[in-house]
Amino acid sequence: MCGIIGYIGGKQAYPILIEGLHKLEYKGYDSAGIAVQGPDSLKIIKTKGKVSHLEEKAGEGFPVGFAGFGHLRWATHGAPSEINAHPQKACSDDFALVHNGIIENYLSLRRWLESEGHRFVSETDTEVIAHLIEHYYRGDLLESVQEAIKKVTGSFALIAGYRDEKDRLVCARKDLPLMIGLGGEENFISSDLAALLPHTRKIHILEDGETALVTASAVKIYNTDCTVLQRKAQEITWDVTSAEKGGYEHFMRKEIMEQPQALRETMRGRLLEGGRKINLAELDFAPEEIEKISKIFIVACGTAYHAGLVGKYLLEKILRIPVEVDVASEFRYRDPLLCADTLVIVISQSGETADTLAALRLARERGQQVLAITNVVGSSVAREADKVFFTWAGPEIAVASTKAYLTQLFSLYLLTFYLAQERGAMEQIELQKAGEALYNLPDQVEEILNREKEIPGIASYLSRWESAFFIGRNLDFAVALEGALKLKEISYIHAEAYAAGELKHGALALIVEGIPVVALAIQETVLEKSLSNIKEIKARGGYVFCFAREGMEALASEVDSIFYLPSTLDDIFLPMLAVIPLQFLAYYTAVARGCPVDNPRNLTKSVTVE
Ligand code: G6P
Repeated sequence: MCGIIGYIGGKQAYPILIEGLHKLEYKGYDSAGIAVQGPDSLKIIKTKGKVSHLEEKAGEGFPVGFAGFGHLRWATHGAPSEINAHPQKACSDDFALVHNGIIENYLSLRRWLESEGHRFVSETDTEVIAHLIEHYYRGDLLESVQEAIKKVTGSFALIAGYRDEKDRLVCARKDLPLMIGLGGEENFISSDLAALLPHTRKIHILEDGETALVTASAVKIYNTDCTVLQRKAQEITWDVTSAEKGGYEHFMRKEIMEQPQALRETMRGRLLEGGRKINLAELDFAPEEIEKISKIFIVACGTAYHAGLVGKYLLEKILRIPVEVDVASEFRYRDPLLCADTLVIVISQSGETADTLAALRLARERGQQVLAITNVVGSSVAREADKVFFTWAGPEIAVASTKAYLTQLFSLYLLTFYLAQERGAMEQIELQKAGEALYNLPDQVEEILNREKEIPGIASYLSRWESAFFIGRNLDFAVALEGALKLKEISYIHAEAYAAGELKHGALALIVEGIPVVALAIQETVLEKSLSNIKEIKARGGYVFCFAREGMEALASEVDSIFYLPSTLDDIFLPMLAVIPLQFLAYYTAVARGCPVDNPRNLTKSVTVE
């Protein structure tokens, strides 16, 4: 998510912090800030926008001090602004902290702290921790941080400082990375190895629940019981470039691997009691609003459109409400039949896609209620929609979307089952099962990621062709479309996705000896039909890579290669697993062809022209 850097030692902290922030810029961010422990005050400078703005603001006479911390913010709670930028302070200017992550119970904590006399100035969840630290402070910063983090639920990586304890910084982590770099008579803290490697290769990586007291000459790490741990630092051998990419060669692969964590962020605070309850009170739907929805439009572009197609199958199946899915640039000019009681859902990773924004505006002009599913707080789509559901995937850098797509799917599942819960559209027991399946999904995604090595062989075959087909029925077709898009975006192979049953109405003429066909035969209800389509292709010499489920072993003799997805999940959830080998397939094919995976020709991450 965001980026953190901290320094304590014998040098001026400010230039080191600024350099560290520059090292973190590649991650994407919307605001920046630093705090320096001066001789008699904590000096804070922050700004919306770039680190260079921060430097301009600090001017020539930068704040003097030998300890401090800095932050790049990717907005979650509250739009990008100077007030919401970190460091966040408590009531007095003496306590400050920087924080990555999301505090789930921040609203109740904020209400309680306000009743205790604390005054809040930002919209952030982070400010709550600053006030908690102040509240529990009894002369020892470490103890007050340890006390404060016991009260919060959610994820955090943080550094805190107090004016009167200039010789120390305190840091803590849960569910997000934080590491300490040892530099002799100086120490460094960061959420990101890339910012530490220019200074040192001796690194302590904090584990969940640990806190650390960092001075210029020592690092003490404590476990959840506040007992000091004896642990040796690790020697890191990565170079800075591979550290930025988490040791991977490309951002795309890193982002594919980040999907379990991204899903855990998407479900945070929304799937409660192990999935038995879905809480989307954040959408502020009145019960009668939910009750009267009689039609849904989903409008999006590219990958987000493909997420919408999965959403259509799902919403119609579960809620029995008709759903239309439109490419945003078509929606706008086809004079859509919008009527009262229609809910328009727009999906956009960036929240800035011009076509999607134009569609959103059209819907609102026509008096429709618009719910946006987006990844970027403060984006145009987020600001202009009536209701916003943030995917919390964290910044996505590779042009080809992976973790943003998966979290969009997950969001649509959450939304569907929430609406079903509120409309009484499902038996309680079925609803609980669905919630539990969603809750356990990140573990299942991890299992698929661990099978990465099954893919490069297939990719090697695919990479020698200039044309390929993807086929599937129902939900498998929606996933096939996304698989084909990924492949064409980054490997430049002409990939066409077809509804399997439609192949015989034209495209079958293109099936020639050896042509690669990726066949998704996952949905059990249409298995027989999918098998006939596969046979049609094989009879004409096509080379079939099949994606099926365990238990469908009979398919193996009909195809050239097969990848089994687990049979533990109901069919309806499988698009969220099936897409992962297809992401790998596109990735390894592009690598085999020597393509620039993260920045494919002619494409940009966010298309802001219509
Ligand atoms: C561009 C990107 C695609 C993306 C689409 C929609 O075309 O190259 O990867 O899916 O825009 O982007 P959005 O930010 O609205 O989801």
